[in-house]
Amino acid sequence: MYICICKAVTDGQIREAINQGACTRKQLIQCFSVGRDCGKCNADVRELLNLYAPPVQSVRQTSTRGN
Ligand code: FES
Repeated sequence: MYICICKAVTDGQIREAINQGACTRKQLIQCFSVGRDCGKCNADVRELLNLYAPPVQSVRQTSTRGN
């Protein structure tokens, strides 16, 4: 199914990019230029990221002391 009609990008292409490590909308824009023309696909791109991209985790400092 086409997600971005303007750039002819499908959900399969976006899922594949996510599987290969793209985890932000900015990265998908860089890969496919999705959302740069009319912008109607932005909500769908976000939804695919929410469904298939791993959640972004904050970097925590772990202490090795006390073990
Ligand atoms: S549908 Fe993606 S920019 Fe128009």
